[in-house]
Formats: sequence, structure tokens, C-alpha cells
Amino acid sequence: MSPPEPEIAVRVRALVKTYGSTRALDGVDLEIPAGQVLGLLGPNGAGKTTTVRILTTLLRPDSGEAWVAGHDVLADPDPVRRRIGLSGQYAAVDENLTGFENLYLVGRLYGRKRAAAKARARELLARFGLEEAADRPAKGYSGGMRRRLDLAGALVAEPTVVVLDEPTTGLDPGGRIDTWEVIKELVADGTTVLLTTQYLEEADQLADSIVVIDKGRVIARGTADQLKARVGGERLELVLASADDLPATLRVLSDVGTGEPAGDAHTRRAEILVETGPKALIEALRRLDAQSITVQDVGLHRPTLDDVFLSLTGHGAESREEPK
Ligand SMILES: Nc1ncnc2c1ncn2[C@@H]1O[C@H](COP(=O)(O)OP(=O)(O)OP(=O)(O)O)[C@@H](O)[C@H]1O
Ligand SMILES: [Mg+2]
Repeated sequence: MSPPEPEIAVRVRALVKTYGSTRALDGVDLEIPAGQVLGLLGPNGAGKTTTVRILTTLLRPDSGEAWVAGHDVLADPDPVRRRIGLSGQYAAVDENLTGFENLYLVGRLYGRKRAAAKARARELLARFGLEEAADRPAKGYSGGMRRRLDLAGALVAEPTVVVLDEPTTGLDPGGRIDTWEVIKELVADGTTVLLTTQYLEEADQLADSIVVIDKGRVIARGTADQLKARVGGERLELVLASADDLPATLRVLSDVGTGEPAGDAHTRRAEILVETGPKALIEALRRLDAQSITVQDVGLHRPTLDDVFLSLTGHGAESREEPK
């Protein structure tokens, strides 16, 4: 097979990887134009890390092809290793070393001379807001700082393609936003990014395009807006004053929305997907008021990743891995 055109930084074709009877990847195709961010979205066990490991030369697929920056990942892994940076799902930070030492070591591993490795470490620490913590052991770092240090580690060798496997899982909202800023800067520099995530919001913020995988297969692809449009409209949610009104409320909701409304007597909540947003909300409230049903709270929400998953797969994006 000939390499892809230079404007395609990453190309994956028909990747299959099995573990015993588990088809971790069952024919995944994806492409990332140079300088763009692709969000690889999927629930636990979807095959995200398996894809990442194959692209970064850490794992061989059973079949299929992968190209990074014009190099065949399987036939020619060395140049791929020089051009790709990985920030794995679990931060690869040496706890006992300082932030500076961690980055210096990576630079030396990549064959940089001492002075160059030091300069690069200092530069990245400054860029990731870790200057003050640079000379403290990483074990005293917060989760967000550790993540940033790990991201910095992935950039030491100035890769043209960066792979980030769930870069914000486990971070608090502040840490997540900080990390997003760093990723946005990377893209501004022209770096191509493959980002895996379980959060549609993250893909929404960062990704030019999204590939959704589930059980090793691509089940949808497009921009964040296109994916949300597939779910169709918004979610109208109501909280009732009395659970007794739930059956009547569900009847009203099924008139103003699409598909089946959902209700929970215990929490007195009712919801449905609506195509017409505020119009549907006003109509629902008008009809409920006419039946003297008291609504305690009401809201319209954009579809979430769970809604996307629910509509695509019939199950949510929550962890659904079988216990090991
Ligand atoms: N080394 C392995 N041995 C056996 N099964 C594996 C191995 N690695 C992954 N799997 C299985 O392959 C499937 C895909 O796993 P993978 O780690 O790629 O998913 P993921 O999308 O990264 O999930 P998560 O969001 O939990 O990180 C899962 O069913 C997983 O249990
Ligand atoms: Mg994973």
C-alpha cells in the first residue's frame, strides 16, 4: 500500500485486534488531516486505547494498516516513534523525580544533549505553568499538574502528531479547562492531535471531527454538531411537585416531543427529546398548566454524550465493562 497524501497526517484502515474471543478492534478506519484534532469517542472498552497503542507502535494489530506522518506504522516503526508523542491514559510521570528531572530524562532518552534537554525541559515547564513546581518531586503534584507534566513529556521531542488518551479523565473542572487550553495551543502550533475521550463536551471544545466507536467498530463520524443533530434537538426535563401527576405529564410530553418520554416517580422527573426547543417547552408548560399540574423545575438541555450513545447504541456511555 502506498502512503497517504502528505496532507493526511494519520490514516488507519480496517484495523482488527482480538484478545481471545474479544474483538477489541473490529475494522476501524479513520483519518486526520495534518494540523487537525480528531476526537475518538467511546465508552469504556470501546477500543480507544487499543487504537492508540497500535498507532504509537506499542501493539501490533491482527490485520489492517496504520500510517503516521507518511510512515507505515507496522513496516517502519522507527520514524513513527520519532514523530509521534504519546500521553497515555495513566500519566507516565516518575513520582520521585521533580518535574524538571522528568522532562530532562525524556529529552535525554530521545538523544538530546544535556544543554538542549535542559533548555527544552525549562521551556515546557514554563509553557505548562509548572515553573514554580519545577524543582519539587512530582509526588506532591495535584492530578492536574501531573497531567500537564505528562502532556509536556509527550512534547519533548517536538512531535508532529500527538496522541492523548483520555487527557482529562479524573481531573476536576479547573484542571480540565487548563488542559484544554494547552491542547488548543498545540493545535495553534500546527500539531496534529488524536484525542480519545468519554466526554462529548471535550470533543466539542477541541475536535475538528469526531469518530465514535463502540465494541471495536465505528458507529458514527462527523463534527460535534452533526453528532448532536443525529440525536435530534434537545432534551426537555421537568420536575413535578407531585409524583401523582407523572402519568398525565408523560402524555403531554409525548405530544410535544419525539420518541418515548421517560419518567421516574421517585425523583418526580419526566423527560423527552424535543425538536423545537423553547417552543416545545412553552407548549408543554401551557398544557400542564391547563391541567393544573405544578412544575417545580424545568430545563432544556443540549444532547449529552449519553444521549448520543443512547440514540446510536441503545445504551449509555457510562462504564459498562464487565468486572474483571
Ligand atoms: N491486554 C488485553 N488483554 C485482554 N483484553 C484486552 C486487553 N487490552 C484490552 N482488552 C479488551 O479490549 C477491549 C478494548 O479495550 P480498550 O482498552 O482499547 O478500550 P478503551 O476504549 O480504551 O476503554 P477505557 O475507556 O476503559 O480506557 C476491551 O474489551 C478490553 O477489555
Ligand atoms: Mg482506554
